[in-house]
Amino acid sequence: MVCEKKVTRPGDIELSEFRQVGREVIDAIADYHADLALRDVLPNVTPEQVAARFLDDLSEYGESARTLLTDWRERVAPLLTAIGSPRHFAYVNGSGAMIGILADALAACTNTNAGAWKLGPAAAEIERQCLRWIAEFIGYPLDTGGILVSGGTMANLTALLTALRHLSPYDSTEYGLQDPARTGRFLVYMADHEGHVSVTRVVDMLNLGRKSLRLVPSLPNFSMDSVELDRMITEDKARGDLPLCVFAQLGSVNVGVVEPIGELADVCEKHDVWLHGDGACGLLAAGLPEKRSLFKGIERADSLSFDAHKWLGVPNDCGVLLVRERERLRRAFSIAAPYLRGSLETEDVALDFLEYGPQMSRAFRALKVWMVLRFFGRQGLRELFSKNIDLAKLLHGLVSEHPDFEVLHEPVLYLYSFRYVPNGLAEHSDQPEIQEQLDRLNQEIVDEIQRSGLAMIMTTRIRGRVAIRMSICSQRTMKEDIETTFDAIVHCGRRLYRN
Ligand SMILES: Cc1ncc(COP(=O)(O)O)c(C=O)c1O
Repeated sequence: MVCEKKVTRPGDIELSEFRQVGREVIDAIADYHADLALRDVLPNVTPEQVAARFLDDLSEYGESARTLLTDWRERVAPLLTAIGSPRHFAYVNGSGAMIGILADALAACTNTNAGAWKLGPAAAEIERQCLRWIAEFIGYPLDTGGILVSGGTMANLTALLTALRHLSPYDSTEYGLQDPARTGRFLVYMADHEGHVSVTRVVDMLNLGRKSLRLVPSLPNFSMDSVELDRMITEDKARGDLPLCVFAQLGSVNVGVVEPIGELADVCEKHDVWLHGDGACGLLAAGLPEKRSLFKGIERADSLSFDAHKWLGVPNDCGVLLVRERERLRRAFSIAAPYLRGSLETEDVALDFLEYGPQMSRAFRALKVWMVLRFFGRQGLRELFSKNIDLAKLLHGLVSEHPDFEVLHEPVLYLYSFRYVPNGLAEHSDQPEIQEQLDRLNQEIVDEIQRSGLAMIMTTRIRGRVAIRMSICSQRTMKEDIETTFDAIVHCGRRLYRN
């Protein structure tokens, strides 16, 4: 312990000013949350208007912390989408739990680098504990390996590289895809309708080529047809290709389908193919007794992932990857450099997460996951998740009972898509030009709701047709938010259809 006189070090804010402005920051955060539900969800501005507000030059000698805070309040926050709004139903965005805001500030306080154990011993154990708690919650082996990454895409990438390293018939570490022993194409499989675009991206990032992604036909309930998968893999192997990995959707992005992981595991085990469960949106539903049967066989997946910044409500960004055999993950990423671990061989018992994933320097993401998990607790989380699923059922009820809507699927989790089909057009809906008119109408409804600021909803395509899509994964959303948004869609639809 070194004792020294208290001085303000270069670069620091003088502590009494820091305390003062810091309190004001907390006030600004509290004020933001106080009227979150009243804010326009999407700021009604054009890209040009926003760009015009950020053209000032960087100051020569810096600005005060208070000036920066004022600017955040006046110029930045009003031009940000209110993702935490209870009526933000677009993409798949969690609410950003308030305890996570504090956790992020505390993680920044120590500027912990969670890459090496020596840079934050507690951080490594907290991350390990989070992985264990999550595994226990969803019913995966407790001694699982894993790592926190930036999100679902990085989790999928990390899983696919691990699969490649593990299953490649030659040592893919040294020569990568240029190994002279290489024969056949590595192939990756996902469902044709609900497979996620991030898988295309990671196949691309690993330079396997987008054509190596095989789209497996889906059943009417949108889940991958495992018989077709088996047939495709058999044929691909017979041709000399190397089936590598199946990406199963565990809560797909448009309709929330949970693909039958046990059935897919049978196929993957038969052919020695890696099975990854992409549960970015829905994996945590495995912790709900009423949804548990959907995830039967989950413990057989080689790896699983979910986005803590989605349903769990951890502030952006944070994805979680679990790899059943920890050593496979380490082998995929382990890398040596004298300065990283000490220059002489030692018996190493500490956990350096930089050995288990793509990043070396890493934010202390585990702190916000740890605090969010502890703040809500297991039963608290189950109640929040069940509430979201009930709200999707409520929306489904409103859609089903209204004559001007077409039901596209049963809600499984919190992701729900439906189509506005005014009564007058329903009987002509087999005509292609009517379907195109309906596509435009659905898009216009969504555009108008967005412009109104009331709610943020988006469209997607279901079986090729434009549909309204709502992702109800905010912890803040209540019954009235769903009803108000649905009423607005109804009114908007009527008005646009009449015109
Ligand atoms: C099923 C699925 N997988 C992966 C991702 C990618 O996650 P991220 O945006 O965190 O990279 C998403 C994002 O919505 C998703 O829904």
